[in-house]
Amino acid sequence: MARILELPVDADAGEKMDAIYRYQRYIYDFTRKYYLLGRDRLIRGLNVSGHQSVLEIGCGTGRNLIATALAFREARVFGFDISKAMLETSVKSIQRRGLSHRIRTANADATNFEAETLFGEPGFDRVFISYTLSMIPVWHEVLPCAADAIAPGGELHIVDFGMQQGLPGWFKRLLFAWLERFSVRPTGDVKFALEYIARQRGYALRYETLYRGYAYHAVLKRPA
Ligand SMILES: C[S@@+](CC[C@H](N)C(=O)[O-])C[C@H]1O[C@@H](n2cnc3c(N)ncnc32)[C@H](O)[C@@H]1O
Repeated sequence: MARILELPVDADAGEKMDAIYRYQRYIYDFTRKYYLLGRDRLIRGLNVSGHQSVLEIGCGTGRNLIATALAFREARVFGFDISKAMLETSVKSIQRRGLSHRIRTANADATNFEAETLFGEPGFDRVFISYTLSMIPVWHEVLPCAADAIAPGGELHIVDFGMQQGLPGWFKRLLFAWLERFSVRPTGDVKFALEYIARQRGYALRYETLYRGYAYHAVLKRPA
C-alpha cells in the first residue's frame, strides 16, 4: 500500500503549497500536461535498469512516479512532497493504478531531507526534480541535499522552466505573470549552482536548454 510517512517539515511552506494546490490538484494532471514540458523526456532518459531505485523530490500528484514505475517495470520508486494535499492525491492515484507495492511516498521538505531517514535507503540510483525548484524560494538549498541523495554511479535529473531566451519578450512576460499566480519563479542561476556542486564533488554535469529556452534539463552524474 502507498504510504505517507510523517516527518517534520517547514509548516509555513507546506501550508502555502496546500493552499495553492487544495483545489488545483483535481485539475492538475490534465492542465499541466500542456505546459510542464520535458517531463516524459526526463523520465525516458532515466534509463533505470533492473531493481534500481528512483526518487522524485516534489512528486506532486504522483503523475511522474506512476509514469516512472510503468516505464521501468522493476524499478523501486520513491517520492516526497511538502504538501499533504498533493500527497493525498498521489496516494489515491497510485492505488488506482495498482502500484502501491512499488511506489512509496513521504511528507518532507526538499530543502532539508535525508534519504536514509525518509525511506531507509542510503542513496538512490536516480533522483529527479521536475518543475519544483522554481517553486522554492531557497532552491539553492535543495541542490546539496539532492546531490547527497545520489548513490555512487547514480544521477540527478532536473527539468524546469528556463529563462525563455529564444522566445519573444511578450511570451516571456505573459508566462512569468501567469506562473507568478502559482508562486512559480523561474531562475537563471541553477546552471551556475550545479556547476559549483559538480566542481566541488567531482561530479559530471550535462545541461541543455529545451524548446528555445522554455525549459532546461540538467543531469548531475556521481562517479561510481
Ligand atoms: C509544479 S508542482 C510539480 C509536481 C511534479 N513534480 C510534476 O512534475 O508534475 C511542484 C511541487 O513541488 C512541491 N513543493 C514545493 N516546495 C516544496 C518543498 N520545499 N519540498 C518538497 N516539495 C515541495 C509542491 O507541493 C508541488 O507538489
